[in-house]
Amino acid sequence: TFNFLILQRLKDWVAIESVSTDPEKRHLVINMMLLAEERIRKLGGTVEMVDLDMQELPNGNKISLPPVILANIVKDPKKPTVCFYGHMDVQPAKIEDGWSTEPYILTEKNGNLYGRGASDDKGQVLAVLNAIEALQKHELPVNVKILLEGMEEVGSIGLNTLVKQRNSTFFSDVDYIVVTDSAWLSNKPGITYGTRGICYFFVEIECAKRDLHSGSFGGILHEAMNDLIFLLNTLVDSSGHILIPGIYEAVVPLTEKEKKLYEGIEYDLDQIMAKYGLEEFRNKTKEELLMQRSRYPSLSIHGIEGAFSAPGAKTVIPAKVTGKFSVMLVPNMEPSVVKKQVTDYLNKKFTELNSPNSIKVTSDTGSKPWLSDINETHLCYLHSLVFGKDADMIRAGGTIPIATHFQEVTRKSIMLLGIGGPDDASHGQDEKISRYNFIEGTKLYAAFLQELATV
Ligand SMILES: *[C@@H]1O[C@H](CO)[C@@H](O)[C@H](O)[C@H]1NC(C)=O
Ligand SMILES: *[C@@H]1O[C@H](CO)[C@@H](O)[C@H](O)[C@H]1NC(C)=O
Ligand SMILES: *[C@@H]1O[C@H](CO)[C@@H](O)[C@H](O)[C@H]1NC(C)=O
Ligand SMILES: [Zn+2]
Repeated sequence: TFNFLILQRLKDWVAIESVSTDPEKRHLVINMMLLAEERIRKLGGTVEMVDLDMQELPNGNKISLPPVILANIVKDPKKPTVCFYGHMDVQPAKIEDGWSTEPYILTEKNGNLYGRGASDDKGQVLAVLNAIEALQKHELPVNVKILLEGMEEVGSIGLNTLVKQRNSTFFSDVDYIVVTDSAWLSNKPGITYGTRGICYFFVEIECAKRDLHSGSFGGILHEAMNDLIFLLNTLVDSSGHILIPGIYEAVVPLTEKEKKLYEGIEYDLDQIMAKYGLEEFRNKTKEELLMQRSRYPSLSIHGIEGAFSAPGAKTVIPAKVTGKFSVMLVPNMEPSVVKKQVTDYLNKKFTELNSPNSIKVTSDTGSKPWLSDINETHLCYLHSLVFGKDADMIRAGGTIPIATHFQEVTRKSIMLLGIGGPDDASHGQDEKISRYNFIEGTKLYAAFLQELATV
């Protein structure tokens, strides 16, 4: 046990294996929602536990989705209202995956609190609730709403519908939506005001009805794998430039004002390289690297389904292979346009091969990039109160579909004000939140609410 109450609470939360990807653990996600409900009720909040539709599993079975928490801590209807969003589910974790400590037992080592969900996202949500509790000792300066879900790690099933349904009720008097599920780039607060979107592609090539042997068939036919490798190799050049015509057309040009924002960000390239064992980045300066990864598109190849990937030498010619890659999108790239550009390009390149094989290019629904008006997130500068420095204004390289969705539906001012650290390993082994981030982050939320009251 921890002798600090707020650390013990985090330990109690981390102890619940609320893994949303595993239907067998669904009751634990529900237990976690109930525990969060209890905590909010203790703060004097009114809590609605909203039941969602059933989830249909790939095998056709249906199971309950965990309830969504919609909570309300009202102070004064004339004061602004901020709505915090977070999630109570976690990614799976087992000690055998290579954890140094038991993933569901919060363990402190060298100023870090290790445990699954410590950073993503239980620690962040708890920091908000702890900040509210601390302010209440005197007086809560604004109205607070809280939205917590339990299916974030599997795409927030059911949440989009709920947000639409409650747009004119729960969200109607909300002035700010704050997503507390993000990380800082250094040890000063980071405010995320934009994210990239994504389109994920599958390109399938089939050369035969069954796998073949290279001793019997090698050299006499167009092999699916060779065709696929050719295609995948036409997507980007060696400098990372995407070769698909038109793909950069919609990218919003860089302004001087935006360029300035990157200069102030603290980001240690060498530290990241050392941590991940990288030799070098393509982009040598901090500014170029941050821009490249957040305000320009990129294309990554992820895998080949159907390829022979086991150890050893097997002389198979796979009959059907599917290459997988994705394009990260930035404002104002539209998923539907990108899909057409990529599909047309691959089909055109394929005709150059004169291959008799079949090609099929498909993609998922994609998610749009999101960008907030920087002026609406001006509150960030007030955080110098807590840290003696302005916050870093960050555009995330990944996607946070919920932010896009909140913006599109509610039209409110959205920001991501998480308190994770730059190296929390949120989906990996040894996930942690530092004691520094957890405690200073709690103060940050308190200062933020205090400042909102003066706007
Ligand atoms: C990052 O480096 C690549 C390769 O040198 C270059 O093409 C790209 O323009 C750079 N990005 C930025 C934002 O400077
Ligand atoms: C943001 O605010 C500045 C100064 O208050 C103003 O000059 C600028 O036009 C605003 N930008 C937008 C996009 O509203
Ligand atoms: C949701 O409500 C806001 C006003 O609070 C409105 O501006 C917006 O258009 C509504 N969204 C939809 C999808 O109706
Ligand atoms: Zn998260």
